Amino acid sequence: MAEGRLQDRVAVITGAGQGIGLAYAERFLAEGAKVVVAELSEERAASAMESLAGMGDALFVRTDISDPDSAEACATAAKDAFGSLDILLNNAAIYHDIDNADASYEYLQKIFSVNQHGTWLMSRAAAPYMVEQRRGRIINQSSGAAYSYMFPPMDEFHGLGNFSYSITKWGIVGLTKFMAAQLGQYNITVNCIAPGVTMTEATKKVVPEMFIGGMTAMTAMKQTLEPEDLAGAAVFFASDDAKFCTGQTLVIDGGLSMPA
Ligand SMILES: NC(=O)c1ccc[n+]([C@@H]2O[C@H](COP(=O)([O-])OP(=O)(O)OC[C@H]3O[C@@H](n4cnc5c(N)ncnc54)[C@H](O)[C@@H]3O)[C@@H](O)[C@H]2O)c1
Repeated sequence: MAEGRLQDRVAVITGAGQGIGLAYAERFLAEGAKVVVAELSEERAASAMESLAGMGDALFVRTDISDPDSAEACATAAKDAFGSLDILLNNAAIYHDIDNADASYEYLQKIFSVNQHGTWLMSRAAAPYMVEQRRGRIINQSSGAAYSYMFPPMDEFHGLGNFSYSITKWGIVGLTKFMAAQLGQYNITVNCIAPGVTMTEATKKVVPEMFIGGMTAMTAMKQTLEPEDLAGAAVFFASDDAKFCTGQTLVIDGGLSMPA
């Protein structure tokens, strides 16, 4: 059997219990990687592990990316189970369960603690293993929301919003560059994917249907994105083909925003 593009690489994929993270896990297994499903929800993870059964080496490690100890334990578990930690795909975020109407400071902190700081905590936990082996790939997940400043408020709230989701996703673009600059000397690349509206359960719950239609009509491709449509880019960033590509954000949104 031909080898996959990620043959025997060990990949930690956060938030792989459903949606885009699960699609990444499926594709990484198909490419020969060994996958750690680093997921907070045991229920989502159980269902994901069922659908990944028979596809290759997959291990569920219950992980809260916003908890430093949990992040460290996840990285250690990957190394202990599979012998290395080659790829970290920072996909998890509060998205499905987000409350866009909550503009409080406390809620802003909560979203930051997962979406932004969780990405940093997981990267901090994985980096020493990658530095030691002088090889690693970190892939962060931003969002087209980082570039969509002009959306009108979705409710009757007339104060200043906290822009929690969009701001954390903007922050991920910057974090990618800082991490790339520091870790390049160890043969570790750090890149980022910024998907447009993707048809996951979370999107169906969070984004009004009319809005999805309007956004799709504004894209060049005039089609909605499916989670599987993002997986090829993640494989590229994780593979040897991308060995000199670092600090980059690839926007995959059917040509909606086309940022420079
Ligand atoms: N679906 C879209 O349209 C879209 C567009 C752009 C970016 N994104 C981003 O892509 C990623 C996945 O999107 P999705 O639609 O599959 O969302 P989702 O909410 O369905 O999946 C996120 C997963 O992360 C897990 N998670 C949440 N908090 C966690 C924590 N503290 N520790 C570990 N796991 C945690 C959730 O349980 C869930 O399984 C997210 O980062 C999201 O922001 C999604």
